[in-house]
Amino acid sequence: MPRYPARLDDWRRAGRIAGRARELGLRLARPGTARRELAEQIEAFIRDQGAEPAFPTNLSRNWEAAHYTPSETDTELLVPGDLLKVDVGAHIGGAIADTAGTVEVGETHRHDRLVKAVRDAVDAGIQAVRPGGSVDAVSRSIERAIHAQGYKPVVDLTGHTIESYVLHAGKSIPSVGGYSTASLEEGEIVAIEPFVTNGEGHIEDGPFGNIVRFRADPGNKDPVLARAFARFRTLPFTTRWVADPEEKTALKRARRLLQTYPVFIETGRGWVAQAEHTVLVGPAGAEVLTAA
Ligand code: CO
Repeated sequence: MPRYPARLDDWRRAGRIAGRARELGLRLARPGTARRELAEQIEAFIRDQGAEPAFPTNLSRNWEAAHYTPSETDTELLVPGDLLKVDVGAHIGGAIADTAGTVEVGETHRHDRLVKAVRDAVDAGIQAVRPGGSVDAVSRSIERAIHAQGYKPVVDLTGHTIESYVLHAGKSIPSVGGYSTASLEEGEIVAIEPFVTNGEGHIEDGPFGNIVRFRADPGNKDPVLARAFARFRTLPFTTRWVADPEEKTALKRARRLLQTYPVFIETGRGWVAQAEHTVLVGPAGAEVLTAA
């Protein structure tokens, strides 16, 4: 018997909201736009639509592949030629959608082929999803689409299954064949998420990207911390979302309880493009939940 998540309607609704938030972000990414304001506009849209951000909006640029969100004091403006990844998440009571797109700021058309390659790759991956089918078939399709455009997949970054309140659940979806022996089950929620580069195809840890996550429930000893955990659970968040100074201090004190995320940087300082959709594994194949 296939096992679908409870409240499937919430997963579909979170998907539609995340898809529209992604398109909004890609549209607003223009020369002179502040990265912090862009993140805030995307997150405000998600809340307006009746969902919560599932993680801080990732606005990674150029050879930053992922995991940068602006801090509350970030003043950086986008400039023409920036290759910006807009990676957004929305959730409704733990029903999570994760989606991303890449835009070249100012339409300089320097990276059209790279952006096309990653779009082809995510589409090819989605087409290869079958209930009971192998993850490796998806990975091979992604890899083939990337190589067809003469680029490299970023090997260290993968798609992933999603469960209630768990953004990265048990299975990884590599962007190259030969790594996974898992199969996909009907009813699973899967983020298909290739990264493409003209660099070396690997990432290294950069500086702190302003994203943290509770490793576990801190319990009730500190009521301020308990309040923060009630809001974020184990999903990634950023201090940009924490307005209360008492809560900010409590989180600083509790650093041991928090996982911190470094920015992922392409090792060859190559350009990096990303595309991502969250899909439901249906009886005939993938149902894309994060279409625009
Ligand atoms: Co993802």
